[in-house]
Amino acid sequence: MNPFHYGSIVRGDYFYDRKEESDRIISTLANGNNMVLFAPRRYGKTSLVFKVMEQLETMGFTCIYFDFLPVYSIESFIISYINAIRKKQTNIQRMVKLISGAVKNIRPKIGFDNFGNPELSLEFTENQVSAQTLSDVLDLPEKLASSGKKTLLFFDEFQEVTKLNKYGFENLLRSKIQQQQQVNYLFLGSKTHLLSEMFNNKNRAFYNSAFHLQLGTLPQLDTIAYLQSKFELSGIKIEKEEALYLIEQTGDIPYYIQLLAAEIWQYMITSQTLVTYKIIDTSASRIIELKEDYYHELFDRQSEMQKKLLIALTCSGENIFSSHFTRQYRLSAASTTQKAVLSLMDSGIIDKNNNTYFISDPFFKRYLQNYA
Ligand SMILES: Nc1ncnc2c1ncn2[C@@H]1O[C@H](COP(=O)(O)OP(=O)(O)OP(=O)(O)O)[C@@H](O)[C@H]1O
Ligand SMILES: [Mg+2]
Repeated sequence: MNPFHYGSIVRGDYFYDRKEESDRIISTLANGNNMVLFAPRRYGKTSLVFKVMEQLETMGFTCIYFDFLPVYSIESFIISYINAIRKKQTNIQRMVKLISGAVKNIRPKIGFDNFGNPELSLEFTENQVSAQTLSDVLDLPEKLASSGKKTLLFFDEFQEVTKLNKYGFENLLRSKIQQQQQVNYLFLGSKTHLLSEMFNNKNRAFYNSAFHLQLGTLPQLDTIAYLQSKFELSGIKIEKEEALYLIEQTGDIPYYIQLLAAEIWQYMITSQTLVTYKIIDTSASRIIELKEDYYHELFDRQSEMQKKLLIALTCSGENIFSSHFTRQYRLSAASTTQKAVLSLMDSGIIDKNNNTYFISDPFFKRYLQNYA
């Protein structure tokens, strides 16, 4: 089996490093504070949070993970949220009793799934979810916590909460967070610029509401050791220089390191035992070949300005609003560049780190360098 995993949460033996960050998150939350975790896409935020939750559970906290990405309406939020809370309750009867007592306009019922396991179903008694119902639902974790263990909420893809703002969601949640004594929150998301705006803009509800933690890349020496030990399991050797070269090809992004390593392993497993620069290049090219149609379509879909900007970003991502950059890459006014930047960031195609912009997928960048 391929020793490199990518695409979903990595746990146990597949997760390395992040000790310092884990410790920071744990002590912040355990001390009764809230936190927001910033990192570009695919740096390992969700995996880190799962690791942290495991540790906090052993310390006696109840940890509830909630992903805002699939939320599409206020009802869907309520159903998923209550179910996320319910997953942590061993006693479903108690949960039903709690909801019946605490949320006036929702009737909980116990049903059974296809396997005969008890299942919670919710019936809304109002035509439209009222502010009161939402408020009651947001209080559930505190009500549960007050009967014993402290509770921690992990809100992933939190920038998506803006979808619910027509219900005054951000403001309401902020006020709940301030009132609740037994519950703390960790916020994270893959659209850094939106998340950053939520927590750094004085006019937004979450301004100044949480400690900030910026997640960087994984330390290269640890990555090299990890790559060497995983390849070694299959009798494959990779020298430090080649491992470093592999990392460089991926823009040092955790997800793409694992993707490229998996491709190299696949390429070598039956025939070769030493990773060479050539094998790394061949594997990187194979990844691009496999994604070529998608990359072509992705590029094609962009406006002319966005295309120009993407091509420019394959060379440099610094001072992109300067007149020098504009002239060099034949862009128009800085305001037009700004619009293209926002649109590309909203769709997750580009990202920003310390005022430098970059193409999120290093293989898309290579595709653009070679083909566009
Ligand atoms: N600490 C780690 N050890 C090993 N691999 C990691 C680590 N962190 C991230 N990865 C790699 O990155 C991939 C993506 O991780 P994860 O989904 O946790 O990132 P994310 O930042 O939440 O991504 P997204 O921005 O898409 O939500 C993992 O599947 C794994 O291949
Ligand atoms: Mg994630």
